Amino acid sequence: MHRLATFWAIIGEKDYWGKGYGTDAKMSLLYYAFRILNLHRVASSVYEFNTRSLDYNKHCGYKVEGVLRKNCFKEGQYYDEILLGVFREEWELIWDYYQKNGSVK
Ligand SMILES: CC(C)(COP(=O)(O)OP(=O)(O)OC[C@H]1O[C@@H](n2cnc3c(N)ncnc32)[C@H](O)[C@@H]1OP(=O)(O)O)[C@@H](O)C(=O)NCCC(=O)NCCS
Repeated sequence: MHRLATFWAIIGEKDYWGKGYGTDAKMSLLYYAFRILNLHRVASSVYEFNTRSLDYNKHCGYKVEGVLRKNCFKEGQYYDEILLGVFREEWELIWDYYQKNGSVK
């Protein structure tokens, strides 16, 4: 088994964005991915205009690995797609801090 996965996340109710729930959910999802499923790497991607998503992924340990230039067309304009990935050892460091402090930073 290759132990690789890719996932994205969405909070349906906009009123709940930007309150830390996405970070908590993603940290829990990564716990399941790495500690329970024993995955090696988890990937995701964000469009360049989605700075909230980019920030929360970085808070959870994801690194920028590449850019698909102008790979999104939205309302008459092209935008880059930013490729992200995180390894278990990178996430473990953040998980330790998160356990001790109740936040990722
Ligand atoms: C992306 C998503 C899951 C993030 O969840 P969230 O609960 O909103 O995110 P958090 O509050 O945990 O973290 C957001 C971070 O983005 C930043 N942020 C917060 N408000 C922001 C705003 N108005 N604009 C830009 N960045 C913002 C902050 O850095 C914040 O972290 P910090 O305050 O700890 O520094 C959620 O916003 C969502 O569902 N968005 C719509 C769907 C989507 O874009 N999915 C991602 C597809 S790749």
